[in-house]
Amino acid sequence: MSYENILVETLGEGARKTGLIRLNRPKALNALSDPLMDELGAALQAFDADPGIGCIVLTGNEKAFAAGADIPTLAQHDFMSAFQTQLISRNWEHILRIRKPVLGAVSGFCLGGGCELAMMCDVLYAADSAKFGQPEIKLGVIPGGGGTQRLPRWVGKSKAMDLLLTGRLMDAAEAERAGLVARVVPAAELMAVTLQAADTINGYAAPVAALIKQLTNQAFEVPLSEGVKIERGMFHAVFGTANQKEGMDAFLNKRPAQWPQP
Ligand code: CAA
Repeated sequence: MSYENILVETLGEGARKTGLIRLNRPKALNALSDPLMDELGAALQAFDADPGIGCIVLTGNEKAFAAGADIPTLAQHDFMSAFQTQLISRNWEHILRIRKPVLGAVSGFCLGGGCELAMMCDVLYAADSAKFGQPEIKLGVIPGGGGTQRLPRWVGKSKAMDLLLTGRLMDAAEAERAGLVARVVPAAELMAVTLQAADTINGYAAPVAALIKQLTNQAFEVPLSEGVKIERGMFHAVFGTANQKEGMDAFLNKRPAQWPQP
């Protein structure tokens, strides 16, 4: 499939590769238009279905991961058209149904819907140039892609309220202190660091990575005791897999593991 609003490529040398998706509307700071979100959903699903792909990396360009939903399009809506076209909801959450790890690499502006999309990734790496925020209040609206729900879960209530209510931007160092991003690196190293992390994950057994992703994301959905119970059941279940046999045999015999179920 050919795309007009994203760039898609496959990278890596190992048996399983990384699917790289770059948001690509540079003139609009990668504003998340409807066609872009349709294409993003299609590209994510194609990589998820490809057994040759381990991780997916989602990024923008140096200036912007994404500066939000597409404001000129939003400006045309009234209540009924927003409701009937499922504005923001129709094609924004494909990413949540992807089973493979999705790593976000953020440079520059990551605002509004851009920040909401980033928070739907499994892990975020940031360039020191990154700026995060939910400035919807300045447009007379509220976040519509989960900002009021995910931001407090990522950074705590007080900082989330501060960002949501003032509309101010948070730099990468503050985002790392707050727990929004896993690592901050110089802008020039962002892709290398992110792709290296992806390569490392690609080298492990895919079903195990998928299970860790599913269980970790579930931590935000279910009570602690329930989550631990589900994890325990899955922990017991992995002892029925060839991956557990191989991983532990490789450790005991001091040799690299050869994953039977890649
Ligand atoms: N949608 C569409 N176009 C956008 C955009 C957006 N969200 N953000 C920036 N652009 C466009 C600008 O209109 C401009 O286009 P032109 O050159 O054709 O005028 C171009 O990108 C460059 O932007 P600026 O000239 O404004 O660049 P700057 O460096 O001076 O400022 C900025 C950068 C601070 C990010 C500023 O562009 C800005 O404030 N953008 C809007 C951010 C925002 O409010 N995001 C939330 C959107 S609503 C939302 O996302 C709802 C939701 O929850 C889903």
